Amino acid sequence: AIERTLSIIKPDAVAKNVIGQIYSRFEGAGLKIVAARMTLLSRADAEGFYAAHKERGFFKDLVDFMVSGPVMIQVLEGENAVLAHRDLMGATDPKKAEKGTIRADFADSIDANAVHGSDGVEAAANEIAYFFPALNVYSR
Ligand code: CMP
Repeated sequence: AIERTLSIIKPDAVAKNVIGQIYSRFEGAGLKIVAARMTLLSRADAEGFYAAHKERGFFKDLVDFMVSGPVMIQVLEGENAVLAHRDLMGATDPKKAEKGTIRADFADSIDANAVHGSDGVEAAANEIAYFFPALNVYSR
């Protein structure tokens, strides 16, 4: 089925100047960028986005990292977009990510892991709504 998923290129990958290389991978896999925005997240933005992880030990480090520099946020659309995007990203921990994945190639650590992607269709809908009003998503 045609799905949408939320992608964030994190501060480490923006700082490395690899937004274009990561976009090429999305396009090469048939994922279309239907919304995009560069922004510096506030702490409230980052805490709200990652609210599901609030009780985890890594939450403060995660929020500190996500507000440390600009991020590039986009909505990707395509066949099985959620899983296709997760396959492109590779495992959360770059040490465990398969060769040729975005995290294997561009990430330094589990915190500075280059990209975020929604982990399911329902999460994707919530995450997209968190960052993009419907009128700023351009499917056609
Ligand atoms: P992301 O897909 O953005 O979702 C939550 C983030 O928390 C994750 O990528 C990692 O960058 C970060 N993180 C740090 N430690 C852990 C951990 N032990 N398990 C999962 N995520 C972690």
